[in-house]
Amino acid sequence: MQIQATDVSITTIDADVAVVGIWSDETLTPAARAVDEAGGGVIRGLLERKEATGKLFELTLLHGLPGVAAPLVVIVGMGEAAKCDSGTVFRAAAAAARQLSARPRKRAAFYLAEGPAVGQEAAVVCGAISGSTGGDLYRKEKKRQAPEELLIAGGDVSAVVRGKVLGEAVTLARRLVNEPPHAMYPESFAAEAERVAKESGLGFEVWDKAKLERERCGSLLAVASGSARPPRLVILEYRGGKNEPPTALIGKGVTFDSGGLSLKPTDSMTTMKCDMAGGATVLAVMQAAAHLKLPVNLVGLIGLVENMTGGAAMKLGDVLTARSGKTIEVLNTDAEGRLVLADVINVALERKPARMIDLATLTGACVVALGTETAGAFTNDQAWCDAVLAAAQRAGEPLWQLPMFPEYSEHIRSEIADIKNTGDGRWGGAITAAKFLEEFVEGTPWVHLDIAGPAFYDKPRPWCDFGGSGCMVRTLVELLEARP
Ligand code: BES
Ligand code: MN
Ligand code: ZN
Repeated sequence: MQIQATDVSITTIDADVAVVGIWSDETLTPAARAVDEAGGGVIRGLLERKEATGKLFELTLLHGLPGVAAPLVVIVGMGEAAKCDSGTVFRAAAAAARQLSARPRKRAAFYLAEGPAVGQEAAVVCGAISGSTGGDLYRKEKKRQAPEELLIAGGDVSAVVRGKVLGEAVTLARRLVNEPPHAMYPESFAAEAERVAKESGLGFEVWDKAKLERERCGSLLAVASGSARPPRLVILEYRGGKNEPPTALIGKGVTFDSGGLSLKPTDSMTTMKCDMAGGATVLAVMQAAAHLKLPVNLVGLIGLVENMTGGAAMKLGDVLTARSGKTIEVLNTDAEGRLVLADVINVALERKPARMIDLATLTGACVVALGTETAGAFTNDQAWCDAVLAAAQRAGEPLWQLPMFPEYSEHIRSEIADIKNTGDGRWGGAITAAKFLEEFVEGTPWVHLDIAGPAFYDKPRPWCDFGGSGCMVRTLVELLEARP
């Protein structure tokens, strides 16, 4: 898809479709006003008759308006003007793009970035790219087709470039999640990572099973032992900063989570290809950092395993020795993400990172606590967490911090080993999981993002198909742009 900035007015633009946003409260945006005036008061008329209200993601299609060159105008509701942040702009643009990508288009022009939303061109471009990319990877006749050319109102070319990089990163994360588990397994994910690394100029290293054994990654290997697919650890490097310690980005890459012998019931297992979403986010952010030449140093680590029930699978009651030397009693093989991350975090520490973030579809308990739209944040360093929360707010992605009081650590004490991999009972499960991870970070400033809720849409949203959402990609790029 070709993307260009334009300052041609909405009434004269040579495009097969023009998209314009309206508010639910305020006066018309300049683009909406131009359409309204050219079309003899059409938009005001629609609003007066309540045929259009401007409420979030409402779409109204106007064909063949007099005085407007584009044969189709898509009007998208952006809600209340004062509440419109870059997350709203991203979603509104994506909702419009989903609608118009139902047919092949030569050229689509977006005029969302006006009024209070000015300066949000990157969010528009990112939304337009993501919204016109379907989740139907394996359908013969795709429901969506990206327009050949995208025109964005507002002359800021650098914002358009940023939006394109963001859109490609979000789309990459979504695609990796959407690939079925027969196609996306540890080796094939590592191959994707290598391709991205080569194309983006990232350092790339991959540890195979033999190397993981030599490196004593007993916790990660135990999870992998029930699968016919061998595990991988991917390490990506990006150096855009001065001679300073890197920020480590760590991703859970469980390419399928059957639960192991603590087998999940069918309804909980059907979407468990999504359990590598944290890893996909890390790869996507590394790609974006390289393409945007962000002035930071990064190391990205992705622990790739399949959690299965083969004859060599870990058993309930097994005691594992993690790479750090800590022993872990396994009381539920479905609490596998923390076992993988324990070793990956330990490898990350060798790079002497100044700070770390891990991303993981870690617990159903986090979804119980915060719902499906909001990710959970956990930390041992409030200042670092505040930076992450502020970036999420700027990006308009819902993120909420949960407590890490020392009392919760009591729940992961084991009778036989240093710690156990589940809490006592199910209460506070998102926090006890985070407390488990904290055992391995050795005081490095760290934020854990539990994305089990928002990483995967189990029904379509107005702005996104069923499947991977690409959540937290925009937040992390926003964070790294602020040079932590
Ligand atoms: N991958 C799951 C968590 C998950 C749940 C992700 C729903 C996405 C949507 C994780 O490995 C898991 O199974 N966690 C268990 C932990 C429990 C056994 C302590 C859970 O949440 O039930
Ligand atoms: Mn699990
Ligand atoms: Zn899992």
